[in-house]
Amino acid sequence: TSTGQQQLIALHERTRDLYHHLLMNTKAGEDALTYLHERGLSDELISEFKIGFAPSQRDFLVQVAQQDKVNADLMERSGLFIRRDDGSFSDRFYQRVMFPLNDFRGKPIGFSGRMLKTEEFPGNDQPKYLNSPETELFNKRQVLFNFDKARNEIRKQGEAVLFEGFMDVLAAWQADIKIGLASMGTSLTEQQIAAIERITGQVVIAYDGDDPGQAATDRALAILDAHSRLTLATVTVPEKLDPDEYLRKYGVAELQNLLKHGRQTPFAFKMQYHKKGLNLDNESDRLKYLEFVMQDLAKVQSPVEQDLYLGQLAVEFHLTRESLKQQLQMVRQTLR
Ligand code: CTP
Ligand code: MN
Ligand code: MN
Ligand code: MN
Ligand code: MN
Repeated sequence: TSTGQQQLIALHERTRDLYHHLLMNTKAGEDALTYLHERGLSDELISEFKIGFAPSQRDFLVQVAQQDKVNADLMERSGLFIRRDDGSFSDRFYQRVMFPLNDFRGKPIGFSGRMLKTEEFPGNDQPKYLNSPETELFNKRQVLFNFDKARNEIRKQGEAVLFEGFMDVLAAWQADIKIGLASMGTSLTEQQIAAIERITGQVVIAYDGDDPGQAATDRALAILDAHSRLTLATVTVPEKLDPDEYLRKYGVAELQNLLKHGRQTPFAFKMQYHKKGLNLDNESDRLKYLEFVMQDLAKVQSPVEQDLYLGQLAVEFHLTRESLKQQLQMVRQTLR
């Protein structure tokens, strides 16, 4: 790491600690702290992750940086400020709950700032989450939220759980599931997958239970399948809930139970997922579905697993195992 990078990290550390102090100890941070408490986050977790609050004035951090004699070039490169046309700075983040984003060593390299209570500002065009822009430190495609803290536990337990949002990672942490990771609102990248593969051979995908979350699960399976040798499982959270909402509604034990016992194989997930939008009473839809499923089943490595699903399909579609097997053989030949 160059001196420039060290200075940028130092600025992020200073900023993180100030935001954290504001949240925990000042009147300005009161509403934000209440918000986090209402979302079920404990002070212990808030301190562990050094969550903070960026106050409403637009020059809070500007003033700190000027007192600290941070030069304009460094301020600009940090991504923490917005430069106006006249050359002066304002804070990029204000009136937001601040989540530090760390590199794999645990050094802060960026932030994600959440607005308080979206519901109360209908028509508000501010994004719910505002992330640091791309800088020489921060590359969204490389960040995996919580990787630094979870790494050892993931190694020990032999698996990681991939969530859609970092609030879900925090909810899981609260439920003593400390192997959660999240990408920053983008689909998985090869860099992130490589980092995961270096520490474990197994990943459970537990994205949001809503339609976008399920679509993202399908995509993640395809990406992971193409770019890794990881053993995969999926969890579909009931009632279209986020894991975080599920925890709030049903409690710690139920979330633990869901993540442990609610797992499906990738094939079972895809069988269920690709039924959506089809009408299986309709002959052509039924054929379309079977064709899709057989393509996928042909790629399942384990003969036992393959046989299990063949049995299920035979029952469900009133077909003989024999004809399904023949079909599978044909598909396999075309794959070769
Ligand atoms: N995200 C983002 N910008 C947004 C919305 C989402 O960058 N406007 C990213 C965030 O990294 C977030 C992830 O996408 O963690 C998943 O989005 P979402 O499911 O909406 O986040 P939640 O964790 O459910 O957020 P919350 O519970 O606070 O609403
Ligand atoms: Mn979502
Ligand atoms: Mn949520
Ligand atoms: Mn979500
Ligand atoms: Mn949401």
